[in-house]
Amino acid sequence: MLMVIYVASLGHELMVSQKTIEIVKATAPILKEKGEEITRRMYEIAFAERPDYKRGFENTWMQDLSGNGQAHKLAAAVYAYATHIDRLDELATAVNHIAHRHVATRILPEQYPLIGEKLLQAMKDVLQDAATDEVIAAWAEAYEALANIFIQKEKVLYQQDDRELTERLTRLTTLEH
Ligand code: HEM
Repeated sequence: MLMVIYVASLGHELMVSQKTIEIVKATAPILKEKGEEITRRMYEIAFAERPDYKRGFENTWMQDLSGNGQAHKLAAAVYAYATHIDRLDELATAVNHIAHRHVATRILPEQYPLIGEKLLQAMKDVLQDAATDEVIAAWAEAYEALANIFIQKEKVLYQQDDRELTERLTRLTTLEH
């Protein structure tokens, strides 16, 4: 049964079951080890199917010379979520930062399902037997719950952007007249 966990510091609800919380937390050790292999595989299959999704990553190194980069950052975020899924308040700063990066690179709500699908596929490809149906079902629910929080947060940021732009344009046109 889905629980509604209100994450005060984010002002949004996380919809996951207690079972999902337990399974996701139990996957944290293997995600610490294999996380970056999974996210690199995820980007590989996502961009193969949707090359247009590469847009937005132009200014991002997938993997820079120090071995970090986008795949590393996403792996760290997935691991942090696995260890903090039942205390998401502690990740509020990181979630807000990511939401701003997504808005800056114009990420859209309709892009989340495909990335989720490819993340689960990559988990299966890399974790093999450890990616049981139960683990994949739990991560599908956990991903959707987190994606909903990002989508709501980013909607607010886009509206804010639009308002600021409208105000700026109004000011400009007023100055011209
Ligand atoms: C729950 C799902 C997601 C999580 C946890 C996530 C996580 C992250 C993280 C950790 C970063 C790096 C932020 C930084 O620079 O410090 C990031 C940036 C980014 N993400 Fe996501 N993301 C998610 C969904 C998506 C989706 C659906 C897309 C669409 C293709 C996307 C595209 C991007 C892009 C373009 C950047 C910016 C790269 C830059 O900074 O130039 N993300 N995301």
